Amino acid sequence: MNVVLLGPPGAGKGTLASRLVEEFGFVHISTGDILREEVAKGSELGRLAKGYMERGELVPDEVILGMVRERVGDSKDCFLFDGFPRTISQAEGLREIVPIHLVLYLKIPEEEVVRRLSARRVCRKCGANYNLITNPPKVPGVCDKCGGELYQRPDDREEVIRKRFRVYLEQSAPLIDYYRKQGILREIDASRSPDEVFSQAAEAIRG
Ligand code: AP5
Repeated sequence: MNVVLLGPPGAGKGTLASRLVEEFGFVHISTGDILREEVAKGSELGRLAKGYMERGELVPDEVILGMVRERVGDSKDCFLFDGFPRTISQAEGLREIVPIHLVLYLKIPEEEVVRRLSARRVCRKCGANYNLITNPPKVPGVCDKCGGELYQRPDDREEVIRKRFRVYLEQSAPLIDYYRKQGILREIDASRSPDEVFSQAAEAIRG
């Protein structure tokens, strides 16, 4: 089964993805994580993506589709796509790469997104995700898991968060109807606790 996690920035897609990978063994493809790795490496792709990401805009569809096509290859694994597709054109491209069986739509209001993302901190070394309000590290600024330094993503400043939310409404929200019409969309109340979000998603996957 191939699953898509759809929802605004800060809906909790990455947090849910880690739990679903642990429970069901999906291969996790987060286009945001791949792009951040490329930016950190200073590759050609990273240099191209950096400006779009810092402004809270989408990286061009053909770049994203090329990246996903390369990751999926001709593997027969079950994939969990996180933050992809983000436009109808990406969804059309994805159809030619692998079939999608289930789309989990994480629904959440804008103010909760701003609250969560302004307080998010990420480990520079292992990528672990913290929240200063709901899930703080034991020692401020230090990762509980690996001792790495915690940082705030450059796109987690309030004005960029609001821009990302607008971009989501304009370019990604049409995917809700697109997948609903295909009969594969399941709505998740993402404003609940991480455990409750996980159980709604696990129930949808188990059918
Ligand atoms: P990307 O990295 O995909 O960012 P995003 O979609 O904006 O999502 P986030 O990572 O910000 O949030 P999330 O939903 O994963 O939430 P999280 O679990 O971290 O993309 C970044 C950029 O890359 C884009 O803006 C774009 O430029 C580019 N890009 C990426 N993919 C692209 C594509 N397909 N096409 C074009 N461009 C693309 O949780 C957030 C916070 O809330 C954390 O602190 C967490 O601890 C906390 N939290 C999570 N769940 C809960 C809960 N249930 N209750 C309380 N707190 C919670």
